[in-house]
This record gives sequence, structure tokens and C-alpha cells, in this order.
Amino acid sequence: MKKQKIFVACDTSNLNEVKKIISLTKTNKLDIGYKLGLEFFCSKEGRNFISKLKNKEIFLDLKLKDIPNTCASTIHSLKDLKNISYLTVHISGGYEMLKAIKREAKKINRKLKILGVTVLTSFSNSTIKKIGHTKSIKEIVKKQTLLAKSAKLDGIVCSGYEAKFLKKICKQMEIITPGIRLLGDDKGDQKRVMTPKNAFANGATSIVIGRSITKGNIKKNIQKLIKSL
Ligand code: C5P
Repeated sequence: MKKQKIFVACDTSNLNEVKKIISLTKTNKLDIGYKLGLEFFCSKEGRNFISKLKNKEIFLDLKLKDIPNTCASTIHSLKDLKNISYLTVHISGGYEMLKAIKREAKKINRKLKILGVTVLTSFSNSTIKKIGHTKSIKEIVKKQTLLAKSAKLDGIVCSGYEAKFLKKICKQMEIITPGIRLLGDDKGDQKRVMTPKNAFANGATSIVIGRSITKGNIKKNIQKLIKSL
């Protein structure tokens, strides 16, 4: 049976913490990759460490959003990082930005997959109104996914709730789902959360899980995750 793909979010700027997460999450029961974000990438040792990380699937979560030219130049600046498999951009940056990013990504590394972030899992229907949206999260995510598809992105990032209906409109694209909690764990700042099992059942092709794994006893949390699947 194909192993389920899990990206462990290493949300820290501390190099030793990242090394600890990587070493304690080793298991042959899951297909584990590592998601590193801006916090680590911008730290003094972060970028250098990422550039040397071998034999690991790396998901660089930079969530780019700017004018097309600036985003394309940013992608160009990542050309030495040949070991990155996934990079995120905000779909709300618009079609031209997405196309410019995809074009430049192809030039620097043909294997680099560009993922479009829809509405962050820390938003609810009431908080999204406060930033001026009048449509529901479901409607916005659907529209954004169609835009990502038209710009030929490789996948989208959305909550487990949207994964279910998006599956039908983006059959060839990957669906990466954050906002994952093991049963009983604190939601923290996340609003649209789901268990790993339900997210996969809803159509996620892989999940992103941070605090449910990295807080407390990491080895025990990995065992809990394996059991929960
Ligand atoms: O600790 P937790 O599992 O909530 O971490 C979720 C991770 O997924 C964080 O690194 C966060 O930046 C990322 N993420 C998210 N929602 C998105 C996209 C990425 O929570 N829509």
C-alpha cells in the first residue's frame, strides 16, 4: 500500500530544534517530508541548512505574494536550492503573478512544484469578512482553485473542508491540507481544523501537521499519528 504523505511543519527559527524534529520523526511507516517556512528561511543559519539538506522531501513555505516581476526575481534567487520539491505562493496575488512564478520556476528547476495557497486555515467565515470579502470561504477557495488551475500550478493548499469539493475540479493537481490536529489537541490559532484521517478521506493528497507532532513528546506523537490513520 502506498504510504500517506505527511509534511511536518518545522515552525521554529532554531536550527537545533529543526534537527531534533527531523531526527525524532523518522519512521518507515509514513512518507515524511519537512515544511520549512519564512521564520526558519530568514534565520541566520536557516537558508544554508536547507540548501544542504539531502534525501528529504522539502516543502519551502514562503507564501509569496507581490507584483509579477518581484515574484519572478525572488524565484530566480532560489536557483541554488535544487533540493526543494514544493514552494508556496498566494493565489490572491493574481493570474499574472502565478504565471510569472511558474515560468521562472521552470527555468530554475523543472522538478519544483508550485502550490497555490487559498484561504489560510486560520480564517473562519466571520474573520474573512473583516478583510473585506463578501463571499464565503467555500466560494473564494473554489474561485482561487480555478485560477490556480488556469495558471497551471501543480497543486493547491486548502483546509480539509474544501478538499472534498475541490477534488472534482482539480483532478490532476495535488491537494495539500494544513490545519491538521490529532484528536483532542488544541486548535491554537487555527479555525478550519480536521483530523489526519478525515483530511485524507476528503481527498487531501498530503497533509501538513505542525504542533500536534512538534509539541510535547515527538516520538509518541508520531506513533499517535500512525495509529490514527
Ligand atoms: O501547528 P500547525 O499544524 O497548525 O501548523 C500548520 C502549518 O501549516 C504552519 O506552518 C502554517 O504556516 C501552515 N499553513 C497553514 N494554513 C495554510 C497554509 C499553511 O496553517 N493555509
